[in-house]
Amino acid sequence: MTHESAHGHVTGRAVYTDEQALPAKLLRLYPVQSPHAHARLLAIDTAPALAMPGIHAVLTAKDIPGENNTGPIVHDEPLLPADVVSHVGQAVAWVVGNDMAAAQAAARRVRVDYEPLPACLSIDAALAAEQFHLKPARVGCGDVDAAMAASPRRLRGEARCGGQDHFYLETHASWASIDGEGIVEITASTQHPSETQAMVAHVLGIPSNRVVCRCLRMGGGFGGKETQANAFAAIAALAAKITGHAVGIQLPRGLDMQMTGKRHPFLARYEVGFDHDGRLLALDVDMVADGGWSCDLSPPVLMRAMVHIDNAYHCPNTRVVGRIAKTHLPSNTAFRGFGGPQGMLFAEEIQDRIARHLGLAPDLVRERNAYRNGDVTHYGQQLADYELPLLWAQLKQRSDYARRRADIDAFNAASASRKRGLAITPVKFGISFNKTEYNQAGALVLIYQDGSIQLNHGGTEMGQGLHSKMLIVAARVLGVSAHRIQIMTTRTDKVPNTSATAASSGSDLNGQAIKAACETLRDRLAAVAAERLCVAPDTLAFADDRIAAGDQSLSFVEVVQAAYRARVSLAATGYYRTPTIHWDPAKGQGHPFYYFSFGAAVSEVEVCGYTGVHRLRRVDVLHDVGDSLHEAIDRGQIEGGFVQGLGWLTCEELRFSASGRLLTDAPSTYKIPTAGDVPQDFRVDLYRRAAAPTTDVIFGSKGVGEPPLMLALSAREALRDAVAAFGAAREVALDSPATPEAILRAVERVRAT
Ligand code: MTE
Ligand code: MOS
Repeated sequence: MTHESAHGHVTGRAVYTDEQALPAKLLRLYPVQSPHAHARLLAIDTAPALAMPGIHAVLTAKDIPGENNTGPIVHDEPLLPADVVSHVGQAVAWVVGNDMAAAQAAARRVRVDYEPLPACLSIDAALAAEQFHLKPARVGCGDVDAAMAASPRRLRGEARCGGQDHFYLETHASWASIDGEGIVEITASTQHPSETQAMVAHVLGIPSNRVVCRCLRMGGGFGGKETQANAFAAIAALAAKITGHAVGIQLPRGLDMQMTGKRHPFLARYEVGFDHDGRLLALDVDMVADGGWSCDLSPPVLMRAMVHIDNAYHCPNTRVVGRIAKTHLPSNTAFRGFGGPQGMLFAEEIQDRIARHLGLAPDLVRERNAYRNGDVTHYGQQLADYELPLLWAQLKQRSDYARRRADIDAFNAASASRKRGLAITPVKFGISFNKTEYNQAGALVLIYQDGSIQLNHGGTEMGQGLHSKMLIVAARVLGVSAHRIQIMTTRTDKVPNTSATAASSGSDLNGQAIKAACETLRDRLAAVAAERLCVAPDTLAFADDRIAAGDQSLSFVEVVQAAYRARVSLAATGYYRTPTIHWDPAKGQGHPFYYFSFGAAVSEVEVCGYTGVHRLRRVDVLHDVGDSLHEAIDRGQIEGGFVQGLGWLTCEELRFSASGRLLTDAPSTYKIPTAGDVPQDFRVDLYRRAAAPTTDVIFGSKGVGEPPLMLALSAREALRDAVAAFGAAREVALDSPATPEAILRAVERVRAT
């Protein structure tokens, strides 16, 4: 089966939020943006804008009938600022016009008086000023101070990693209309329709039952639409309420980049104690994430970084303290991996540093520190079904690691200006939302008398193939072909109280809910069919659009029609909650993950010593997706995730001016990877599990959305390996992202020693 939107994606016919059958008269929004990173709002004069042709309203804070807040966890995020602005580009007002050009022209006429205030524009500035969101978070185990003091070797260090723009192809989009009964219908490119619904209700001051949010598909979300769609939806709804017309917004790329949050940049300061063989004994890490002006999802992102500081390595004494810097920048948010990539980057940095410090092969040190089945992580979760060491060994063999290592060393000995590097890194990524209550899902399945089926679930489609996988689950349980099933737009009036489609758990959660709903329907149909065939219901098999007992069978449609005549309900809901997980946020201990997704990658690079430019010569990936629900989709996720991680680690660099303005707000200045950056030789294999897992995930599959992004850490470590070959330096500092400039700086440092 192809991805359900494959033809639409390839031909350009797939319909997105701003392209659906839009109302004939749809007004458009344009923001009035703050030129200051931090300033007091003294006055807003909207009169000149209102006098312009085609202008219906200019929305400011005082127009909000409900709560002026869209903060998802902490209520610290005014939708429209009433007294202070907190980042350059923030909307202080929104103009509603007949079209975007009219609204934009009028936005320039809105006069705003500001009194500039001192701004805090970096993690370092926030540390100096001690400006943080919330209290520090802590996770740890063992006695770090004693173990550190007793360690035969110790290293201290500091590492940083940069942010990343989501660069979904479809920018933020929403449109709102209000029906004759006053029900607000909001169509939004959102990963979290239930939260969008709730935020719209809060802002308008109405109950949630008067708001419906729907999302057909997104042109990419990558975490950027987990919370950040809410504000745009709320503005569209507010504008619709005030003007009485349908109102829509789709951000031009520049605005999307200036106004929305990104992956969190992080700073980590650490001390690590180890023995002469490189085995970890104690790890003490202080992490700071740049949260931006409001809290948004920073607390759980930071926590995921803290619980992934181990990546796949066992350290019996660990202390991690995490803080969120409060800066006057856009509010950073979820991005594929959700803090995991940052935590794991530091883990790999530390492994590599230990190895080079001791003059050992980095892959050897990684192996010595590798977790084994039954080990307990620093947050108290015992590892079960832990096959990563097996996968690692298989990958080393398949990628011909040892021979290529020798070849590369020989190449480097003979080449002065170009050096090659090789590295293998693991990925162990926890699957489940850390916040236990988010791990639930619902579905609604409807069978009609002609045997056609409608499938509703709470997840959203953003290109990751969730809808296709959900079709497969329903078709498998009901024993029907997929073309019998119509997947419906995700709507909050079909399935309520849903979680964000995030944390790679979209198929796990919604798949189980669909399975439950379809099993209910199958049992009802089985009772009807059993009576007609005079057999026991549990002897029936549902397959190939038929319901069979031995060589007797009935068609699916026949049984559906018989059920209708017998007054058997043909609609069912399904519900699922992940079992066994628990988490104590105060202690930073628990069993937060239902299971782990694993993988490993070997990257080989070549670096030019004159320019710092590199090429990825070959990448070998072995990744565990369990019993794949759809191998082609999973491969797509692995390849796409890897390349997106490569972008974060090697070419995407966010630059802000001294006054806090994003300078890299277009593809001309912000370089995302292109087809030319894909590894020249890219070998992706799915791991075949050695043993049946003890957790019950939908049809034995595993979450795959985020983990492969972190496989790209192998490319960063391979770059470091190549840089090392330019000199005799023991340790090799490499900035992240490892842009050509950063690589060149590293090469020059290595040559100088
Ligand atoms: N793949 C595509 N094509 N587009 C996306 O926006 N988002 C990623 C990942 N893969 C994304 C994607 C992120 S951040 C997550 S959490 C998962 O998909 C969410 O979907 P899933 O839980 O269904 O895997
Ligand atoms: Mo993904 S960052 O959990 O939306």
